Amino acid sequence: MRVFPFLASAMLSISSANAGDRGSADVCCNALNRDYLLKGKVYFPGTPAYEARLNTYFDANAAQRAWCMVLPKSTRDASRVMRTLSKYKCPFGIKSGGHGTFKLSNAVKDGVTIDLGFMNGTTYYPERGVVGIEPAAKSAPAYEALEKYGVTVTGGRVGPVGLGGFVSGGGISFHAGAHGWACDNVENFEVVLANGKVINANEHEHSDLWRVMRGGSGNFGLITRLDMKAIKFANPAEPHIFGGLVAYDLSKGKEVADAYINFAENIHNDPYSSVVIWWYYNRDAGEMVLVACLDNSANQVNPPAMKEFLSIDGIVSNTLRSATMGNITRELAGDDGFYNIWFPSNFKNDPRIISYAQEKHEELIQALEAVVSAGEFLSTQCQFQPVSKTVVDHSNNNNVMGLESHVADGPGILFLMYVTVGTAADEAVALPLVRAYHEDLNHYASSLGINWNWIYLDYANLEQDPISTFGEDNIRKMKKASVKYDPDGVFQKLRGSGFKIPT
Ligand SMILES: Cc1cc2nc3c(=O)[nH]c(=O)nc-3n(C[C@H](O)[C@H](O)[C@H](O)COP(=O)(O)OP(=O)(O)OC[C@H]3O[C@@H](n4cnc5c(N)ncnc54)[C@H](O)[C@@H]3O)c2cc1C
Ligand SMILES: *[C@@H]1O[C@H](CO)[C@@H](O)[C@H](O)[C@H]1NC(C)=O
Ligand SMILES: *[C@@H]1O[C@H](CO)[C@@H](O)[C@H](O)[C@H]1NC(C)=O
Repeated sequence: MRVFPFLASAMLSISSANAGDRGSADVCCNALNRDYLLKGKVYFPGTPAYEARLNTYFDANAAQRAWCMVLPKSTRDASRVMRTLSKYKCPFGIKSGGHGTFKLSNAVKDGVTIDLGFMNGTTYYPERGVVGIEPAAKSAPAYEALEKYGVTVTGGRVGPVGLGGFVSGGGISFHAGAHGWACDNVENFEVVLANGKVINANEHEHSDLWRVMRGGSGNFGLITRLDMKAIKFANPAEPHIFGGLVAYDLSKGKEVADAYINFAENIHNDPYSSVVIWWYYNRDAGEMVLVACLDNSANQVNPPAMKEFLSIDGIVSNTLRSATMGNITRELAGDDGFYNIWFPSNFKNDPRIISYAQEKHEELIQALEAVVSAGEFLSTQCQFQPVSKTVVDHSNNNNVMGLESHVADGPGILFLMYVTVGTAADEAVALPLVRAYHEDLNHYASSLGINWNWIYLDYANLEQDPISTFGEDNIRKMKKASVKYDPDGVFQKLRGSGFKIPT
């Protein structure tokens, strides 16, 4: 057996002492292809089926050309896949909805990509009040499948976002205030362990695993189904929420930021209302826009929580309406196939961070304009959303994100700098500028004593190490579960996508 070079990413903590011999492309892909159950489900480079799958990724750099792709159609298939990959020590990546934003979020180049794309069903079980979600189900189609039953789930706010990655890594939905993080709404994970065994993790069975999988992402096994709490619409006969986008005249930045800060301080008064604000620049449009995404999951029209936002004199457009979740989340859908650079961080709910981040955002745009190729795409987004005790308390200490101590001191701001360019070369020149912007912002926040030093996994950049910010106790629980359920460390050493448990 040929020893394969370790995956290139510096984030992979593979110790050479126990990495062992790794399966080669031939050994791994042929072993999968030989399995009669996987017949027709292993795709090889150069075939139309393989090439077509490369177009199912949000981020152009994430769509890595794997040795081969395997597309299980059932839990049984997924179990055979894991057994074979473990047996031959094959490096692999996990792809569900494919909305990871960086290279090695999901697909891998030196290994096998497990593409769960065919496992995308949504099934409502009214007697149990649960929705069975397959990992590659996307948010808007899942909502649409549930509308006729008058229920929904804590899924993405942008239609095409996949639920496998979103839910396992946290998940902020329009229902966060009333129901918590998406991961806190998972009553049961069906999971294929490294040895191919299929188990259920819930409050009663394998509860240690259930806890660490809430926010622990792909560190313990391959998730084949998420049984999520079914949430009833305020009026199940009319499955609507109230929401949309309100855009402001750019001169109203201070008023919007103040409305945002006040909103965050008062979420406990209306857990159904939510807000995200962002300054968005698009080179093609040649100007910046300032937008508030406002929603009320109880379908209350213009609720008091939105009053300050709606009374600002300077609204240039307003799409607020009562509509289905499918309709609301499709309004936000962005385009696939670009190169994205995301850097999140979390701060205390302090207006100084908003004005500083936005002032420096304008400088960042100038710097990016100078280096991104003429005629190519460029957009930037400087985004803020609250993380409050009202949201976090729904976890009942049953997730691993470690936010309880932070929100005890008051609400926080989940900040995201989100830059999009059109080519790999432009990504390479933009990255150092965006990284420097982000470092400067974090230094500023630290100097004011308002930096949470906490990183949201679902938004994190591969350069960040989000799990290391979850607190010692949570990391210890994750390590313990990893040793128990994955004794050979397959999901730590052979998995080449996503974030690992720090060593
Ligand atoms: C346009 C856009 C909008 C977004 N909006 C929101 C939002 O409103 N709220 C929010 O919280 N986040 C949001 N996100 C972030 C989103 O939660 C993450 O990108 C998430 O990873 C997407 O899930 P996926 O299944 O599509 O990802 P994938 O890229 O398929 O998976 C990402 C990683 O998740 C893990 N994973 C996925 N599936 C499994 C599985 N079956 N078993 C084990 N591990 C698995 C793996 O580590 C994998 O590498 C958004 C992202 C984008 C691009
Ligand atoms: C599930 O995936 C298949 C294959 O990509 C696709 O044809 C189908 O439309 C998807 N179903 C849903 C509900 O998204
Ligand atoms: C939402 O519904 C309205 C009214 O039916 C329609 O005009 C609009 O195009 C829909 N928006 C999306 C994004 O589906």
